[in-house]
Amino acid sequence: MKSEKAREYIESLRGSGKIRVLFVCLGNICRSPAAEGVLADIVDRAGQSHRWTIDSAGTGNYHTGDLPDHRMRIHARRRGFELTHHARQVRESDFDNFDIIIPMDGSNERNLRLLAPTPEAERKIIPMAEFVDKAMRYDYIPDPYYEGAEGFELVLDLLQDGCSHLFELLK
Ligand code: 4NP
Repeated sequence: MKSEKAREYIESLRGSGKIRVLFVCLGNICRSPAAEGVLADIVDRAGQSHRWTIDSAGTGNYHTGDLPDHRMRIHARRRGFELTHHARQVRESDFDNFDIIIPMDGSNERNLRLLAPTPEAERKIIPMAEFVDKAMRYDYIPDPYYEGAEGFELVLDLLQDGCSHLFELLK
């Protein structure tokens, strides 16, 4: 992790019983439901599902109720992840109901900071790129919506790397 503050916060959660993670992107139909599916798979394979609550949400509300984008579902399925989340918009109460809130890019992060009701709530916001290996050379998870297949593959590469590190830090 690059940010010392973020590392300190993550370490403060170690050893706590249940860990509640919310992934956030713009539409909640591409990046964040994929992150939810990837982390849920890691946690499930490790037999740790009982310790984790994993959800996702969007800063926008254009896709409320929708399943993930069909392209994201196809690319995820090829790697063994079935994405069945229905999109919802992020809400202020999410800051009470989750321990870590993980935006995919800088725009999602700014919108979450505006929504955070207190400084303690704001501390829960840790960008996804904090968990991604530096060698991957991305400091955000790029929006694949207007991209081709390679955009979706890149998102999954970054999320699989980041989620495995997130799990290692908190397991
Ligand atoms: P996401 O991708 O934020 O990763 O779910 C997007 C999905 C939809 C739109 C933009 C980004 N949109 O403009 O509808």
